Amino acid sequence: MVKNANLHKAKNAKNDEFYTQLTDVAKELMHYKKHFKDKIVFCNCDDPTWSAFWKYFHLNFAELGLKKLISTHYDREEATYKMEYTGGDDNDIEAGVKTPLEGNGDFRNQECLDLLDECDIVVTNPPFSLFREYVAVLMEHEKKFLIIGNKNAITYKEFFPLLKDDEVWIGCTNVKEFLQPDGSIKKFGNIGWFTNLDVAKRHEKLILWKNYTPEEYPTYDNYDSINVNKVSDIPCDYNGVMGVPITFMDKYNPEQFEIVGLLQSSTNEQAGIPNLRYYNDFKEMRQDMSFTGASGGKANGNPVIKEKPVKGNFLYNPITKEYVHSLYARIVIRRKVGA
Ligand SMILES: C[S@@+](CC[C@H](N)C(=O)[O-])C[C@H]1O[C@@H](n2cnc3c(N)ncnc32)[C@H](O)[C@@H]1O
Repeated sequence: MVKNANLHKAKNAKNDEFYTQLTDVAKELMHYKKHFKDKIVFCNCDDPTWSAFWKYFHLNFAELGLKKLISTHYDREEATYKMEYTGGDDNDIEAGVKTPLEGNGDFRNQECLDLLDECDIVVTNPPFSLFREYVAVLMEHEKKFLIIGNKNAITYKEFFPLLKDDEVWIGCTNVKEFLQPDGSIKKFGNIGWFTNLDVAKRHEKLILWKNYTPEEYPTYDNYDSINVNKVSDIPCDYNGVMGVPITFMDKYNPEQFEIVGLLQSSTNEQAGIPNLRYYNDFKEMRQDMSFTGASGGKANGNPVIKEKPVKGNFLYNPITKEYVHSLYARIVIRRKVGA
């Protein structure tokens, strides 16, 4: 067990060592300039000797009108240090005061939490393996932040309520490549920014042009909501509840839409609308009608369409002879009145 736990930790640690490139930091930060005047910025997962976040804020210290920049260096085993810079020589990124920390720079250590309380805005790419916990700490300390994370987080049961309640939203750009410790590049498909700093994009209206028809937008078998397969196909004349792909969150403008819930193995609370049907008496089948061995119950709380799909597994009820299948996660939304 101990060996397994250690292996797991080592794997997580390896999966955390992806370094953000300066161009990606600059591309996102250009949208938030107005937020930084007279502010203390804290990069709490960043070794100042190489972090692109430290570099960006150091080089642009005067330009942004920052008050102070702080960075803490993390090491799994050893005591580390913090760097603080209050201006003077922005182009020399080694300029700053280096002070030893008592601990290893873990963002949860009390001395790092004290720095968190001192700062106004946290900007970093935190360890992917600790994303949930990292966000919980920022929320608990009521911090403004701009952080990198996997967009799958949208469907995490702890994280989704923050998006729904407009406490956090998606930033402007995606980050496709990170540097690894050996200098090589690692590509990712689904990494972006999460923030609670206001940004112009969040106030842009999604232009809609398609008209609703019951044929193109079927109602789910288990929820009183229509299904929309593409964000660009959201009908402009439908005022009821709609299930849309999670990429909707990139376009979400809270003046235009209300987020009602999320459909993905959801409880009624998460769905935001009542579940009208469960599938425990269905069986999961392959296209050749062989039984996979799984109960239809695995579709409970998913967005479910009442038909047999042209490919992939589906659910079949041998008594009623019904076919249904689950779709990928859907965000449940409603247009705001007058929007
Ligand atoms: C995804 S990397 C990003 C590093 C840097 N912020 C950047 O963008 O280049 C996450 C970093 O967090 C560090 N880290 C891991 N666990 C941590 C913890 N508990 N507290 C602080 N930093 C941690 C890792 O060592 C790693 O360097």
